[in-house]
Amino acid sequence: MINTKKTFLFAVVSVKAAVILLVTCATVDFDTSVEANSGFIKHTTSLIDKRIELKVDSVLALMTIDEKIGQLVQYSGKWNATGPSTSERDQYKYNKLKKGEVGSMLNVASVASIRETQRIVMENSRLKIPLIFAYDVIHGYKTIFPIPLGESASWDLDIIEQSAAIAAKEASASGLNWTFAPMIDVSRDARWGRVMEGSGEDTYLTTKIGVARIKGFQGDDLSATHTIAACAKHFAGYGFGEAGRDYNTVNIGEYELHNTILPPFKAAAEAGVATFMNAFNDIDGIPATGHRHLQRDLLKNEWNWPGLMVSDWGSIGEMIAHGYAKDLKHASEIAINAGSDMDMESYAYEASLKTLIEGGKVSIDVINDAVSRVLRIKFQLGLFDDPYKYCDTEREKTEIYSKENLEIARDVAKKSIVLLKNDNQVLPLSKDIKSIAVIGPLADDKNAPLGNWRAEGDYNSAVSLLEGVKQAVSKSTTIHYEKGIELTVPTVKPGENQFLIPLEFNTTDRLGIKKAVEAAKKAEVVLLAIGEDAYQTGEGRSQVDIGFKGLQLELLEAIQKVNKNIVIVLMNGRPMDLTRASEVAPTILECWHLGSESGNAIADVIFGDYNPSGKLPVSFPHHVGQEPLYYNQKNTGRPHGLKQVTYSAYRDAPRFALYPFGHGLSYTTFKYDNLTLDKTEIKATDSINVSVSITNAGDTDGEEVVQLYIRDLVGSLVRPIKELKGFKKLMIKAGETKTVTFTINAETLQFYTANKKWEVEPGAFEVWVGGSSVATLQKGFSVVE
Ligand code: BGC
Repeated sequence: MINTKKTFLFAVVSVKAAVILLVTCATVDFDTSVEANSGFIKHTTSLIDKRIELKVDSVLALMTIDEKIGQLVQYSGKWNATGPSTSERDQYKYNKLKKGEVGSMLNVASVASIRETQRIVMENSRLKIPLIFAYDVIHGYKTIFPIPLGESASWDLDIIEQSAAIAAKEASASGLNWTFAPMIDVSRDARWGRVMEGSGEDTYLTTKIGVARIKGFQGDDLSATHTIAACAKHFAGYGFGEAGRDYNTVNIGEYELHNTILPPFKAAAEAGVATFMNAFNDIDGIPATGHRHLQRDLLKNEWNWPGLMVSDWGSIGEMIAHGYAKDLKHASEIAINAGSDMDMESYAYEASLKTLIEGGKVSIDVINDAVSRVLRIKFQLGLFDDPYKYCDTEREKTEIYSKENLEIARDVAKKSIVLLKNDNQVLPLSKDIKSIAVIGPLADDKNAPLGNWRAEGDYNSAVSLLEGVKQAVSKSTTIHYEKGIELTVPTVKPGENQFLIPLEFNTTDRLGIKKAVEAAKKAEVVLLAIGEDAYQTGEGRSQVDIGFKGLQLELLEAIQKVNKNIVIVLMNGRPMDLTRASEVAPTILECWHLGSESGNAIADVIFGDYNPSGKLPVSFPHHVGQEPLYYNQKNTGRPHGLKQVTYSAYRDAPRFALYPFGHGLSYTTFKYDNLTLDKTEIKATDSINVSVSITNAGDTDGEEVVQLYIRDLVGSLVRPIKELKGFKKLMIKAGETKTVTFTINAETLQFYTANKKWEVEPGAFEVWVGGSSVATLQKGFSVVE
């Protein structure tokens, strides 16, 4: 790599005043009590480094209004960055880059194109403020990990952090310095396509996983070349779109917002996440992008968070369609005043902020605050020292898609698999099994397992189930492979972006079913790979039908007539309606979209090299009509009925889940005993230790996720019937007993009460410990004044 460090040691080197300031501040010590960024918002947090603040202020002092507004602009750059393209829009962007009127680019990936784009700014603009390059690195960069929902099923914070760290390492080796992840939207509606991107329905689990991912991406030093800035998104409420329809309106009360949706964001801010992204939805009539209370009052002022808020794609402009802004100018005024610092692809700020400032509608303090946030991150990343610091072609060659990264991807993938059902212990299979039929539209699919949002994951690059099985079995095993049916019919034309194109399902071509039935007849066991295409979930992929699309159930019915030994290998990105499948198949293995090493990881579990340990981060319903469905619902005034109908339930489906939150089987069984509380009465400031013994009662070693739930029986607000408040994943050898202890304290018991404060209310509580949200081992305690 060329050592560019000296050349770019402070891009503003030509400007005397700045140099003096920058040199002076190099000797100033880290001061945690500084009130930085004079004028508008005062930060007192330890996330602020005084030396950086002085540098930020010194650069800010040199900037013209146009340059300042430019820093608040982010363009997408899927274009020929090496020179002006013929398109008018690209030519426009190119000229803006030259003038130094762009703060960030997204969708430019690879050392060559990032270096080239950065060069346009560094060689042509007056102040030479480096660009920051962003990309949706959601579950891996080129080495693809399980989709976030799947990875969350591991309940293993260490491997989740590790997978984010590898994604950061690969992305940064490609020149990137900012990812739009993690998505920490709690979501409870399986119809919403973006459930695949989050950590499911529970606030506590989402919080823990969100923080693990942020740590993985950012490490403990943002300026290191293998870390990148993370982004907590989408602030806020995006996971609660009515009826699971993407981008839809959100109606949640203030208390639900604070208790369910905001805690992961608060934790992200406290964990030092560098950026936030706002959201497309409105909340009770106010678009998130224009939500001053959330962005300005709460996040930036009350939580004192000093990072950068980027808009979602075009979401500033979309306030016009919402009916909240008259035009782009009005939208800009609302967004910037509300605290949206950077405009992603709305072209609103560049067109109107200057006039708004001149007209007194937007104060220069607001602009300075937003620009400071952009500059701060650039300093934190070290881009002012060396704008090309992430542009290392050697790293790009060696650190991406390495053998080591793929091995870790396989490890994460196998730990994300959930054994939903295993009647008659069909699994694990012996590697010496005489014959297996591997059937289904997804059985040899090398693309679906990569899931949606697969960054630079190469088309068709995953290990398929069939490949994984072939690798695993002994030479004497006969494998009968038949696809049976196609899941989809092709809709993407050459040159089109699959991300944007709707899918069509095959509902007519049944020709292969006969052959599949013949294969099933010949085999001892059928592995049936069905579920969802990669592009059935993700952005814009909401569905009202969460069952098996196309002819998949027909294939299952045909096969179960000739062979009952069916293992459904489910590949999907959302909770599905598995009611019929669970009636006919003795075994269901939830394999999500597991990424690059999918087939190998599934084979690890199928043939018993790895004992499954995943637990569901979402409830699987009996029927889509139960959605939104989540375990931590409220009791209602009519939870039970006898023979009459006047209680809260459905007449044609159960009220609770088919496979509940926290559920997941193992090849062994775990027995829970001796739930003990060291106190039964505490003050709000005290704590209680809750311990339980878990015995591995089978003859296979295995990992168990021990889960702690509580219920606050009477509150100033109605509390959920159960809430996850702790979990521990541990290995227990066959025959061994281990004791796990959890501590319950004020942090566990508090909630956002009717006083609009986080506090513990005295009263009676129940506590459960077990292997899922339907844990039955229970005790009580109370909090006294
Ligand atoms: C999504 C964001 C994403 C952005 C940039 C938007 O459509 O909602 O989550 O980060 O695009 O690709």
